[in-house]
Amino acid sequence: MKNKVVLITGASSGIGKATAEAFAKKGANVVVAARRIEELQALVKSIEAMGCKASAIKTDVSSAKSVEQMVAHTINTFGRLDYAVNSAGIEGNFGSVIDLPEEEWDQVININLKGTFLCMKYQAKAMLKSGNGGAIVNIGSVNSFLGFPTGSAYVTSKHGLIGLTSSASAELAPQGIRVNLLCPGVTKTPMHDRLRGIVGDDLYDKGLIPTIHLQRAGSPEEMANAILFLCSDGASYISGSTLTVDGGLTLTM
Ligand SMILES: NC(=O)c1ccc[n+]([C@@H]2O[C@H](COP(=O)([O-])OP(=O)(O)OC[C@H]3O[C@@H](n4cnc5c(N)ncnc54)[C@H](OP(=O)(O)O)[C@@H]3O)[C@@H](O)[C@H]2O)c1
Repeated sequence: MKNKVVLITGASSGIGKATAEAFAKKGANVVVAARRIEELQALVKSIEAMGCKASAIKTDVSSAKSVEQMVAHTINTFGRLDYAVNSAGIEGNFGSVIDLPEEEWDQVININLKGTFLCMKYQAKAMLKSGNGGAIVNIGSVNSFLGFPTGSAYVTSKHGLIGLTSSASAELAPQGIRVNLLCPGVTKTPMHDRLRGIVGDDLYDKGLIPTIHLQRAGSPEEMANAILFLCSDGASYISGSTLTVDGGLTLTM
């Protein structure tokens, strides 16, 4: 991955941030995107301190104009785009199908599902233009397969990513761009900490963790390793696939 260029959304935190650091360690030039520019600038500094190249761009993935600017910034800075990781996402506010306000639904769908569509739209265009092929990894969830009460917006957004990823792969793989969906299980990030707060420590420790075969939450670095694999030549025959990295959670449900 030396001198290849990767664009990562949701890089101000959690899985996206760990993925940016993992790509930098492999020698890739990294563009990091999210809404909180201070966090991104701190990440760029720490990557540069490793002797690698990185650049930050403030981005709202739910805005086509902002996403277009993000990809243009990548090309202007590093001249090409080889890999894209679409990790930007929110859990939103949970609420029953009956009570969930329309605007809460729209916000989650606009960021998680439409945002990933917009990112791929401009990323794939840039990859095709540079003519070197590429790989895109979208970030789904175990909730790409499993629903839960009060989770309709989040669960729908993550289920939708299977269809979006599969359709994009069918269009882009013949042109040399592989597209896959990583589906993380419980992963220790700020999103995880917020969800643990809602579930409560007791139910988390005694109800959720024992259902995971590996009996623990995953780390953002473990997700980053799987994302690196999906982008690497080792995954050259993998496209349109979901890779579930959940310590065995989904199979127990
Ligand atoms: N942690 C888990 O247990 C878990 C499990 C399954 C799936 N996932 C998925 O993994 C992905 C990463 O989650 P995480 O756990 O790393 O959560 P996180 O720590 O909360 O990070 C989410 C990232 O998304 C960015 N983001 C949110 N809205 C955005 C927007 N409109 N435009 C651009 N960036 C935006 C946030 O940055 P800003 O706020 O700076 O914009 C942040 O960098 C998400 O898609 C999530 O659904 C997580």
